[in-house]
Formats: sequence, structure tokens, C-alpha cells
Amino acid sequence: MYNRKDAFYKKAKLEGFKSRAAYKLIELNKKHALFRSGDAVLDVGCAPGGWIQVVLQQKKCTVVGVDLLEVLNLTDTRFTFIQGDITEQETVDKVLDACDGYDCVISDAAPNTSGSKLLDHVNSVDLVRLIFYFAKTVLKKGGNFACKVFEGEDRDALVKEIKKDFDFCKMLRPEATRKNSFEMYIVFKGFKGNNEQ
Ligand SMILES: C[S@@+](CC[C@H](N)C(=O)[O-])C[C@H]1O[C@@H](n2cnc3c(N)ncnc32)[C@H](O)[C@@H]1O
Repeated sequence: MYNRKDAFYKKAKLEGFKSRAAYKLIELNKKHALFRSGDAVLDVGCAPGGWIQVVLQQKKCTVVGVDLLEVLNLTDTRFTFIQGDITEQETVDKVLDACDGYDCVISDAAPNTSGSKLLDHVNSVDLVRLIFYFAKTVLKKGGNFACKVFEGEDRDALVKEIKKDFDFCKMLRPEATRKNSFEMYIVFKGFKGNNEQ
């Protein structure tokens, strides 16, 4: 059992963030400069919108957010929301239409947990792989990618597969991650570009 109303939950409430997850992105960006002022960012699995708020804190950043669920009460001219499943072509087409290319793709998306650690891990790896192959088609050369994965035996193979397309890779567990969670964040920097770039 975890205490839902822990220190980060309370801090988020106090500081007006829509999720405690906001502090994970703040830490990732502080340590690894994922996105900077003026960047175009894609946030996959963005609801309820904590990460979007963090991106919008950077001057002139624009952000496209995608989620199965609605993002409520978050309007900003620099934020475009697309409701849909990133594994479906219809959603992918909308993301492609929303921006010519992204400097950074961030993903906190995770499948619904089932109670089986193994199944959750396998589903999470499948989702990250799919998001990565999509990110490759929209990321600008030199761009960055950060994702969440549920720990398990296929994690290293996944990291190895993605790493080939980037100059730098680092795995970390931000401080705001719940102690009993088996999630891990992976940062990839310096996209080498796809064939057309
Ligand atoms: C942990 S939450 C994200 C929290 C967010 N980073 C924030 O700060 O508010 C994970 C989100 O991923 C979304 N998600 C999971 N699978 C998805 C998919 N296939 N397509 C789009 N969104 C998905 C879920 O609906 C959920 O809202």
C-alpha cells in the first residue's frame, strides 16, 4: 500500500500542478535538459496534464499532448490536445497534422496495471517500443526522447534497441517516484536522424 497523499501529492496541490508526476519531469529536465525555451514537444500519455504544465513553464515552448483520457481545465495557446489512443492510426495522423516535427518526445504512458508484474512489464515494453518507432518519424535530428517503462527482464533489450538511434542514454528513478513502484524513466538524447534527415 502507498500513501496517495504523500509529500509530492501535497506539494503538487499547493503549487497548482495537476499531478505529482510533474516533479518527475522537472527532475528529468533539470538533470538532462530534455527541452528548452522555444522547443516543440510531444507528450504521449499526458493526462491529467502535469507534464504539460511543466513544459509550458518554458518560454515559447509549444506542446502537443495525446491521451486516451481528457485533459480538463488546461487551456493555453501553446498547447494542443489530441484525445485518442497512440497505438491507433487515426490518432497518429492527428499528431502528424499538429506539428511539422518535434524537438522532444516525452512519454509517461503506461498500460493499465493488471496485478501481474510480468504482464504489466511486457505490455509496457510493447507500448514504449511502439511510441519510440512513432517518435522516430517525428523527431528532429538532434532531438530527445524520454519514456517510462515498467521494470522487468526485457528492459535492457528495449534500451539497447532504442539507444542505437541516439548519442546518449541514461536510466533514472526520479525522487517523486513512489518507493514501491517498479517504473523507471529512460532519457535518450541526440537523435541521429532518420534516413530523410
Ligand atoms: C501516469 S499517466 C500520465 C501523467 C502525466 N504525465 C501528468 O503529469 O499528468 C499515464 C497516462 O497514459 C495514458 N495512456 C496509456 N496508454 C495510452 C495510449 N495507448 N494512448 C494514449 N494515452 C495512453 C493514460 O490514459 C494515462 O492518462
